[in-house]
Amino acid sequence: MERRSSIYVSLPTASVKSVMTTPTRIELCSTQEVAPGEAKRVEVPGLELAVFNVDGQFYVTDDACTHGPGLLHEGYIDGDVVECNFHNGCFNIRTGEVAAPPCMIPVKTYRTIVENGKVFIET
Ligand code: FES
Repeated sequence: MERRSSIYVSLPTASVKSVMTTPTRIELCSTQEVAPGEAKRVEVPGLELAVFNVDGQFYVTDDACTHGPGLLHEGYIDGDVVECNFHNGCFNIRTGEVAAPPCMIPVKTYRTIVENGKVFIET
């Protein structure tokens, strides 16, 4: 008698969802609202964000510093680095990576799109 065997592969639900989900585009502000070298806080449902203009390129991070109560849109911006005005920790605006302690955890960044003079993120 021939014996057949079957192999079942189970995909994690999260993996299937990430493949099937199309990104959601969220409008944040006009490019005119954020001058080069400056930042603006934007709140949308569920997110508190900082929109940065680095030499005409726009980047979006979470506004909350990962170290404490500082807000990055209030920080000192030098090129593509923002210094939190609470304890002077720094983050790279483009990547979210920590650029100076006491911060240890990178800040979340968002895929940023500029279209027709508006800044959007995709989540
Ligand atoms: S709260 Fe930002 S460096 Fe401490």
